[in-house]
Amino acid sequence: MNHTILILNGPNLNMLGSREPEIYGTQTLDDLQQVCIAHAALLSIALTFVQSNHEGELVDAIQSVRSAHDGLIINAGAFSHTSVAIHDALMMVDKPIIEVHLSNIFQREAFRHHSYVSRPAKGVICGFGVNSYVLALSAMKDLLS
Ligand code: DQA
Repeated sequence: MNHTILILNGPNLNMLGSREPEIYGTQTLDDLQQVCIAHAALLSIALTFVQSNHEGELVDAIQSVRSAHDGLIINAGAFSHTSVAIHDALMMVDKPIIEVHLSNIFQREAFRHHSYVSRPAKGVICGFGVNSYVLALSAMKDLLS
């Protein structure tokens, strides 16, 4: 494995599979993790996969990227739209960051149209369900090559 990437998932993403399946699909967080591990292996990327419902734990995980990972793929869930603390933690990360969302946040309620993650991120991928993460892994591979 050439690179190590953190995939970080925020609040309520542990409920995937049963959470509003018409928006988020029927695959569970475990399914998502398996898809990511399989695709990362093809790209020679080692994955750490973390989910937390707690803002401070997400900030701690983001800070860990500085010393422990080569890049970060983050779906901060609802904290994307609210958290200056997550924005500030991301601004300190000197590695590539890719923001992902399962749903197309721009097709949804106005309060989802702004994300505090987007400015520190290299790019944003949203609206492709689980495939948003697969696309992000491929994009990350290119950024690191
Ligand atoms: C989400 C979109 C957010 O607006 C929402 O709060 C989530 C999931 C997504 O992956 O589509 O929790 O980040």
